[in-house]
Amino acid sequence: MVIVYQSNTGFTQEYAQMLGKAEKMKVYALDQDQPPKGEKVLFLGPLMAGHISGLDEANKRFSLQAVCGVGMSPPGQDVMNRMRRANYLSDLPLFYLQGGWAPKKVGWLKRRMVNMVTRSARKALLAKGMRTPQEQEQLDFLVRGGSYVAYQNLDEVRTWLKNQPR
Ligand SMILES: Cc1cc2nc3c(=O)[nH]c(=O)nc-3n(C[C@H](O)[C@H](O)[C@H](O)COP(=O)(O)O)c2cc1C
Repeated sequence: MVIVYQSNTGFTQEYAQMLGKAEKMKVYALDQDQPPKGEKVLFLGPLMAGHISGLDEANKRFSLQAVCGVGMSPPGQDVMNRMRRANYLSDLPLFYLQGGWAPKKVGWLKRRMVNMVTRSARKALLAKGMRTPQEQEQLDFLVRGGSYVAYQNLDEVRTWLKNQPR
């Protein structure tokens, strides 16, 4: 099995490379490389308004074994349910990895789209006179961006990989 990824601001690429190194798997960029024909593929792509970018193309080109969506939201059952529903994945194994938010690396329209979605959360945090360190961190993340990419976040997908024929 090989890893194929799409990444706009680099977080998914970081995860793909980290996972490739940890599991000794080859890593390919969806729009640049052509993995060997017939290879089984684990696909990683960034979430954009609920959709996993690049998934449609990857699904057409490869034999997908599992998919990882990378987004800026904290992980949780809600995120998983929405991701599965919005991406027509039927029963393909699906994982969520928290990536980051890089407002300076996206165009103004995309930045606006994200800022519209996070507006109420930012407003609620700003309205608090006293913010806990976690709340302050959350606010800084939403305003300035940041990364939650971490090696341990790969645990679940690595456990799944260990039980797959390679
Ligand atoms: C237009 C746009 C829409 C996004 N929609 C979502 C979303 O629905 N859910 C989410 O968790 N993150 C969303 N994000 C955040 C990205 O998924 C996040 O920054 C991700 O780590 C980007 O990965 P990349 O650096 O590999 O492109 C969105 C970002 C942009 C620019």
